[in-house]
Amino acid sequence: MTRILGIETSCDETSASVLQGEGDDVERKSLVILSQDVHRVFGGVVPEIASRAHLTSIVPVVARALDDAETSLDEIDAIAVTYAPGLIGALLVGVCYAKSLAFARGIPVVPIHHMEGHIFATALDDRDATPPFTCLLVSGGHTMLLDVEAWGRYRLLGATRDDAAGEAFDKVAKLLGLPYPGGRPLEMLAREGNASKYRFSKPMSRRNAEPGDADYYEFSFSGLKTAVLNAVNASDGNHRADIARGFQDALIGSLVEKTFRAALNFNRDKIVLGGGVACNSALVSAMRERVAELGAKVYAPSPRLATDNAAMIARAAFYHYAHGEHASLDLNAFASRPLPGLVAA
Ligand code: KG4
Ligand code: ZN
Repeated sequence: MTRILGIETSCDETSASVLQGEGDDVERKSLVILSQDVHRVFGGVVPEIASRAHLTSIVPVVARALDDAETSLDEIDAIAVTYAPGLIGALLVGVCYAKSLAFARGIPVVPIHHMEGHIFATALDDRDATPPFTCLLVSGGHTMLLDVEAWGRYRLLGATRDDAAGEAFDKVAKLLGLPYPGGRPLEMLAREGNASKYRFSKPMSRRNAEPGDADYYEFSFSGLKTAVLNAVNASDGNHRADIARGFQDALIGSLVEKTFRAALNFNRDKIVLGGGVACNSALVSAMRERVAELGAKVYAPSPRLATDNAAMIARAAFYHYAHGEHASLDLNAFASRPLPGLVAA
């Protein structure tokens, strides 16, 4: 049996987790997530403040994760750490700390790409969320549609051409006077809205689109954001809930349609969602409804595992560790880096 300590510091959560198991049979022993609330007053993450906050919290957060798991570093076989993508200063705190611990204990470091962590997150909640599946990753920084034929083999079908889905939620929330991060407050406001008042068109969703078309699996949300801005300006601050509802319906409609296309064309009966926007219950129910005709099951992570956390990093490391992959002590952090294991579309 293997025991892995995961560390995640790519953005504004300092997180550590201990997992134990073998293959796809992995149990979560602990998960600590310390969210840096300080950024709220700035309406977005301030990189330098994030790095400093990781520095002051990384030691107690890891100690707490070991404590909660009733274990110690002596009983850890490997340390998994997010090395990319993210804020470089923030990533470096986790990478340096992971390397130091591993060097001191003489155990390997397993470097994990943050987005690969999101692909694995749902498997911690549901043991059936294993490949092959269609995967939709929707976070604050990324929007990716993937066909996952096996762990470690990712066919990138589409991504966003401009804003990420979560970023669109955050920006529109700001236009509507909601706090940061705006995804959850916007979802709440949209629940009170009337769906027929503002019908924004679903981005990149031509009905006659064919699988070979450049925009068939792609996303774009900046046009929708502008349409919302125009609606807000024309409404003199009224109809906020109706606008929120119209925005959310259009954005979700686009996500659902592209995911449906991917599941249909690759003949998948599992759809795995990941990233913070996967907390959105309107998205999950719209997805379930749309893919029902394919007989496909939708797996959505619980909110703690959907948003940034170290358990997903440790979970992805079980796969790589079992394949003998680990880094040497010159491992570096990278602000951007393609997902490893990409196969040709
Ligand atoms: O995956 P995540 O925690 O961090 C990144 O890696 O970016 O995603 C954060 C994003 C934010 O943009 C936030 O507004 C969005 O997820 N989010 C939501 C909801 N909860 C969080 N978006 C829509 N509906 C929600 N309920
Ligand atoms: Zn993330």
